[in-house]
Amino acid sequence: MKKVIIDCDPGIDDSLALILALKSPELDVIGITICAGNVPVELGGVNAYKVLKLMNREDIPIYLGDNKLLKRELVTAQDTHGEDGLGEVLPEIEIPEEAIKVGAVDYLIQTLKNSEDVSIIALGPLTNLAKAVEREKDILKKAERIVSMGGVFRTNGNCSQVAEFNYWVDPQSVNVVFENVDKAIELIPLDVTRKIVLTPNYREYLRQMKNDVAQFIYDVTGFYVDFHWMQERTLGCVINDPLAVAYFIKPELCKGVLTHLECVEDGPAMGQSLIDIGDFYRRNPNVFINTEVDEKEFFNLFFKRVFPENIKDTEIVLKGY
Ligand code: RIB
Ligand code: CA
Repeated sequence: MKKVIIDCDPGIDDSLALILALKSPELDVIGITICAGNVPVELGGVNAYKVLKLMNREDIPIYLGDNKLLKRELVTAQDTHGEDGLGEVLPEIEIPEEAIKVGAVDYLIQTLKNSEDVSIIALGPLTNLAKAVEREKDILKKAERIVSMGGVFRTNGNCSQVAEFNYWVDPQSVNVVFENVDKAIELIPLDVTRKIVLTPNYREYLRQMKNDVAQFIYDVTGFYVDFHWMQERTLGCVINDPLAVAYFIKPELCKGVLTHLECVEDGPAMGQSLIDIGDFYRRNPNVFINTEVDEKEFFNLFFKRVFPENIKDTEIVLKGY
């Protein structure tokens, strides 16, 4: 099993990524750190707890970052994920006092300092990771792997013509992180996640499963589906973050290139991930950017990991694609 810390901003697709991670025997999710992004960190913590409770994994610690970014003011994506960050369909729940702690940056630093074999799967803005670097410059070099869902290369952005949300929210943190690693960060950009569409057919399959996890995914994605139709006439919804988890488990799902990334920090292109694919500036590579994905194989992995009791049905449903 690989030890991972999941840094996330749940967020509907973050919640699906957490479910996949918790149902994957290859992963030992030792902690969850919350960054501001889709929702402020307080809501992110509550939403992460709702997922842990659904999965009977309240043993996993949750640590909040804070809503102060490196330079920008927080702009959330509650128009996309709902005011509560999980599609405005779930009831409020009692949360035990000790379930959600503060100190995400302390937790990242201490955990990476004390063990060599911990990886980070980052599913939101990189604020927590950047603040860890600001405190301990080489701390990210202790991570075994860093996988980040973020950025965009050869397709259009989702926050401007050229910027993807996670890297647009806190562009300064992207450069602090990418300038202080000694192994390439494995990037899952919009170029590949846009192909991971939870279609009406897949949602109907979830509804037919008649189990609580499937119903949770069906319910929380409803708001997200409506947003996708309204915003970009997509039928279904793009579930970005679960691909980062699936890729961590099975890198052969994707193909990519080793290159250099920096992030535009202000102006009309703010948040754009500049990929020096032609090595114009001859800088050391700091990113392995994934540009291709086998989307059908992703859903094969997702459904079989999350619903192992439905493998036969999954094969029937996937045959139809
Ligand atoms: O641009 C998509 C990313 O931004 C996803 O991680 C989504 O959850 C939001 O954080
Ligand atoms: Ca996210």
